[in-house]
Amino acid sequence: MYEDLLPHTLPTEAERLDRMALAHDPDTFATIERLDLPRNAHCLDIGAGRGSVAIWLAETLPDAQVTASDLDVTSVRENSLSNLSLKEIDLQNDDLGSELYDLVHCRAVLCFLPIRTEVLSNILKSLKPGGAFVATEMDFRRIASGPSRFWATFWTAYLEFTASQGWDLEFGARLPGFLAKTGFAEIDARHIQPVLNHSGKTAGAAEAQTWSLTLATLAPQLIGGGFMTESMLSEALSIIRNSKAWTAGPGFMITSARRPVE
Ligand SMILES: C[S@@+](CC[C@H](N)C(=O)[O-])C[C@H]1O[C@@H](n2cnc3c(N)ncnc32)[C@H](O)[C@@H]1O
Repeated sequence: MYEDLLPHTLPTEAERLDRMALAHDPDTFATIERLDLPRNAHCLDIGAGRGSVAIWLAETLPDAQVTASDLDVTSVRENSLSNLSLKEIDLQNDDLGSELYDLVHCRAVLCFLPIRTEVLSNILKSLKPGGAFVATEMDFRRIASGPSRFWATFWTAYLEFTASQGWDLEFGARLPGFLAKTGFAEIDARHIQPVLNHSGKTAGAAEAQTWSLTLATLAPQLIGGGFMTESMLSEALSIIRNSKAWTAGPGFMITSARRPVE
């Protein structure tokens, strides 16, 4: 389970989630801004982590009611926003309710769940008619096919490890189709492949730092489970941590969709 391998209690987890947010918030915010939410929108962030998206929503829309939810909400950054509340929600087991939200957001959550397509119906039901769902999920297809043989081999080994955990890091590629099958409308999707460069304060640097921390944290399982050797992992980390290289990293699919107005 995700929470066994990357629990919020790990000493480096808050920093890893902060780096992930720095890397992805600009694209997430741009996608949400295009949706033209009502000023008093009711919003739910699922698997909020440090809560960067929920906090931004509550700050940007002071009349909105925003809920940051996660299995463990203790990691949500401290804030004094009166329109932001916290709620423990397990997306796999909890009913999200009916016709409550103008926006449901989740990022890098569905791909880790053992049942990921079924939860889409739960999310659809929780939206008001016309309400929007924004999801960003990993889409590793391109990285596993190139550009260099080592890079492809390394990430293919990583994908074998993640598959052994029941994670699907190619789920982003299938997400638009699953949204359509579930009954969502106005489905928009764009593939983003961040370029890793471990220097400065750019989104690409934050992405490189995220992967550096993720792989270092998972090293015992990656090596101990026989998915890769220590030298293979070191070589990959030296590429990711190279401040003079710009290397295409794993991709993501950002999708937005709406519950149809019946
Ligand atoms: C990779 S982190 C992403 C955090 C945040 N969405 C972001 O992008 O910055 C995945 C998050 O999903 C949460 N999560 C994992 N399984 C979950 C579940 N079944 N229900 C709700 N949240 C879950 C984890 O606790 C973690 O905070």
